[in-house]
Amino acid sequence: MVGGITYADLNIQETPSSLSPSVPHPSENSSVCTCTQRYRTALGVSCFVILLLSAAVTILIIWGFQGYKTSGTDCFLASEMLHLKTSLCYSPNSYAADYVKDCKLCPQNWKLYKGKCYWVSQERKSWTQSQDDCRAKNSTLPVIQDVDQKTFIKNITQKSTSYWLGLVAEYSERWIWKWTDGSPLKEKLFAVSGPAGNNSCIMTKDGEVSSEDCSSLYAWVCMKKAFTL
Ligand SMILES: *[C@@H]1O[C@H](CO)[C@@H](O)[C@H](O)[C@H]1NC(C)=O
Ligand SMILES: *[C@@H]1O[C@H](CO)[C@@H](O)[C@H](O)[C@H]1NC(C)=O
Ligand SMILES: *[C@@H]1O[C@H](CO)[C@@H](O)[C@H](O)[C@H]1NC(C)=O
Repeated sequence: MVGGITYADLNIQETPSSLSPSVPHPSENSSVCTCTQRYRTALGVSCFVILLLSAAVTILIIWGFQGYKTSGTDCFLASEMLHLKTSLCYSPNSYAADYVKDCKLCPQNWKLYKGKCYWVSQERKSWTQSQDDCRAKNSTLPVIQDVDQKTFIKNITQKSTSYWLGLVAEYSERWIWKWTDGSPLKEKLFAVSGPAGNNSCIMTKDGEVSSEDCSSLYAWVCMKKAFTL
């Protein structure tokens, strides 16, 4: 019974208070409400659209700016590259604009010939020490593939001095001459004087080649690929 009374009390007290505000003008209130709601919805949608548009515009501006920056940098690099090629590779003898397509560079004191750089020693060392020195210069003793290259080395070296080449005797069933890059010697290129045997290395003197003891001390030439700009 106590519970029933409490329920009735609550019912009586609550019903009028909860109904009273909405009961007097139900129709007016609801129309104002929908109007305001529509207005709010429209405003919300507009705001959202405006936000979206500004975000899109901002993104487009940033993209455009980045694109401009990138193409600007590319353009700057291209003109710098042309400037470098012109000042480092242009020569009056080179065919028109050839230096732009084929700009090969060697370090200071190295001579460029057909895409390779050559350096000539003043000291004398054994074949192994000479090869080590070339390795320290990121190069090797010369591996000669054609007559022009052979003539070029003859041209840049002194007539009376002997220079090690990257050619040594290797034993596979018999002693044969092998370039340090693994290719065999083309007999037409060099007529080697002296036998291929244990500890035989090849040196060149005024365009001629001969077999020597690898521990003999001679000058040497180093060779490496030119840098292409
Ligand atoms: C050494 O030479 C090779 C090609 O000949 C080149 O790729 C490399 O970058 C060079 N390394 C150095 C340290 O010069
Ligand atoms: C070697 O030198 C001769 C005479 O100076 C020259 O005619 C020839 O073109 C040169 N060859 C090379 C490959 O440098
Ligand atoms: C070359 O000579 C060294 C010592 O002088 C010897 O140990 C080696 O077996 C020889 N190699 C050949 C293939 O004869």
